[in-house]
Amino acid sequence: MTIKMVKNRRRSGDVSAALPFGRERAERVRMYHESFENYRTTGLMRLSGLAEQLGISALYVKDESSRFGLNAFKGLGGSYCIGRFIGERCGIPEEELSFPVLVSDRVKNEIQGLTFVTATDGNHGRGIAWTAKQLGVKAVVYMPKGSAAERLENIRALGAKAEITEYNYDDTVRFAAACEKEKGWVLVQDTAWEGYETIPAWIMQGYTTMALEAVEQLSGELPTHIFLQAGVGAMSGALSALFADYYKERKPKIVIVEPDRADSIYRTAEADDGMIRMVGGDLDTIMAGLACGEPCTLGWEMLRRYADYFVSMPDYVAAQGMRVLGNPVSGDPRVISGESGASTAGLVTELLRNDAYRSLREEMGLGPKAKVLCVSTEGDTDRENYRRIVWDGAYPHP
Ligand SMILES: Cc1ncc(COP(=O)(O)O)c(C=O)c1O
Repeated sequence: MTIKMVKNRRRSGDVSAALPFGRERAERVRMYHESFENYRTTGLMRLSGLAEQLGISALYVKDESSRFGLNAFKGLGGSYCIGRFIGERCGIPEEELSFPVLVSDRVKNEIQGLTFVTATDGNHGRGIAWTAKQLGVKAVVYMPKGSAAERLENIRALGAKAEITEYNYDDTVRFAAACEKEKGWVLVQDTAWEGYETIPAWIMQGYTTMALEAVEQLSGELPTHIFLQAGVGAMSGALSALFADYYKERKPKIVIVEPDRADSIYRTAEADDGMIRMVGGDLDTIMAGLACGEPCTLGWEMLRRYADYFVSMPDYVAAQGMRVLGNPVSGDPRVISGESGASTAGLVTELLRNDAYRSLREEMGLGPKAKVLCVSTEGDTDRENYRRIVWDGAYPHP
């Protein structure tokens, strides 16, 4: 039950590979998102009281719980990739894509009968179901065994056909991919593998909107450290690339965080031999959004270049993050954050409060001058578990 960390010895200062997720591209993606009626910039919370208690200079938490009314950031990727897919199908250039164009009669006629399929722990599927509903197309969503009933119902409530399978996350992805072949549906998966990269790249580009918002909300204030949680590593890969391009030589240290039961990216970095590592089995962690055993190839390409540290950590750290964010120091805003959402804030508090991790925090340079940015990528997407953790103290500090 300890936190493990490896340093990325292959980090690159050359930002040319980051450009597909860079600032210019992110600005265009955000324009697309702005064309959706309920697009709003999500809040960047300044937890000054907590920062003072932890002995650092600043702590910022980007709160994605209000994104598109979906309680998680994932709709950014789903909405952008489905838009781009329909755009290509109907011959609409990227710069002309917008919500009103996508729901125009001309497009509606051309995409009749289109069905999108995906596998999800919940958040991505909800984003796909929401987008499909907005655009009047069909969505079929498969979830791994053990998925929370609330997450399933949230997807069904948006009109998608959704089911919990008997497989773990990675096998559910394979099942959804097989449906594409058998049924002629379009797979919109938030992870890439060899031969399947166009749609995941659009999804990753979609995520960059939240990073662009965050850097603008910081109004010139430069974070020293950015903590990003990883499931397959698509989100953290895209955001690391955006930050690398945006900040160039001033890029903050980027720390990638995974549950120890599904730490394939950590293991890949630790092995450092150019081969991707996978984790199989039940991937039994409370951080459902991060319970993925096979890294996204495109995400890893960005992480190996632009991340600084990779961390593997036990569940209690995320539970602590949920309790800390939900019970703020006087004067700080409250952030309701789920298991995957609070993982990074939990790690920051544990590294700074537990002297067993003194050498880790010193190596990262996490001291009095540190200005830390975390993204709370979801709210209480599994409310029953949220209460078990925050009210009843489940997953206590060992
Ligand atoms: C809430 C939440 N945070 C973070 C992630 C991680 O994103 P990725 O799988 O791209 O690494 C997910 C993925 O589902 C998620 O649902």
